[in-house]
Amino acid sequence: MKITYVLSEIDSIATRIIECSKSNILLFYGDMGVGKTTLITSLAKQLGVSETVSSPTFSIVNEYRTLEDKVLYHFDFYRINHEEEVLDIGFEEYIQQGDWIFIEWPEKIASFIPENSQNVQISIDKTGQRVLILE
Ligand SMILES: Nc1ncnc2c1ncn2[C@@H]1O[C@H](COP(=O)(O)OP(=O)(O)OP(=O)(O)O)[C@@H](O)[C@H]1O
Ligand SMILES: [Mg+2]
Repeated sequence: MKITYVLSEIDSIATRIIECSKSNILLFYGDMGVGKTTLITSLAKQLGVSETVSSPTFSIVNEYRTLEDKVLYHFDFYRINHEEEVLDIGFEEYIQQGDWIFIEWPEKIASFIPENSQNVQISIDKTGQRVLILE
């Protein structure tokens, strides 16, 4: 599925992603500043997270609670140097819980990416609109 969107459309796009995702684990690929965190913030909002969602700057993972008291984990692996570091943070345990998991920079942990995750690729077209490919 391919969707082009501007910022004002992001919440409805997020709703569609939640409906269409084949997995509770979503991998967000795309260059710096393309809009991964922005989209994850909207997805979290649609899932009923009321806290502010921002990139985990000082830690690799942020945890949020949804309205239904479900848990959502937001990982940002940008600052990881060696992919084995995911073992130290217990990544393998996180992904077995069945909670919503949103991952920025999954390419940094290529060997540990769970099978059957939902890939979300974001890019910017000539007009500055975001192009999202779900596959
Ligand atoms: N659909 C969109 N249309 C226009 N601007 C957007 C869109 N989505 C995000 N942006 C803007 O792009 C900027 C960068 O977004 P964001 O921080 O989400 O990127 P990122 O992919 O998470 O970057 P990083 O890899 O550095 O974490 C923000 O200023 C945001 O408002
Ligand atoms: Mg980000």
